[in-house]
Amino acid sequence: MSGWIGVEVSPKFNKDKVVEKLLSLFADEWIAGYYYMVTAYTIKGPHAETISEIFLKESREELEKHAKMIADRLQDFDVDPPRDFKSLYDLSGCKYPELPNDPYDIDGFIIAAIKAELCAIKGYKELYDMTHGPDPVTEELAEDLLRDETRHRTELVNLLSREGLERLRKELTG
Ligand SMILES: [Fe+2]
Ligand SMILES: [Fe+2]
Repeated sequence: MSGWIGVEVSPKFNKDKVVEKLLSLFADEWIAGYYYMVTAYTIKGPHAETISEIFLKESREELEKHAKMIADRLQDFDVDPPRDFKSLYDLSGCKYPELPNDPYDIDGFIIAAIKAELCAIKGYKELYDMTHGPDPVTEELAEDLLRDETRHRTELVNLLSREGLERLRKELTG
């Protein structure tokens, strides 16, 4: 309804680009949420159970909190979530890094998740930059989710073994 009323954004603000970005971020949340669940159900080893719990918790936050907040903001613009599940993967800006074949390679699964978080952080920073000023409601959403994804990144980095941390450093810098 407020898609055409729209008084919460500055008069000349172009909502189309923000809607496009929100749809892409919505898809990223679903994909990250799905792969975190896959990770929780796949990993094996002495610490797998504890780490699975953390992945399930983060999965729920992506799906139940983040995707929900984005869907709510899209409703303000009178836009529904994609009806076609297949289109989610196409809409996603981040997709998801390839998962290790070995279920005991827990560091490998965590590194994939850290890369997904870094992509989400970049996406919310871009959303913040697009909306800062003319669209304070979306700007606040971007701030909230940027804070959450940064926390996720730190939580995941802290789960890595010493070798895993070294591996991440090499993959991100080399
Ligand atoms: Fe998220
Ligand atoms: Fe996250």
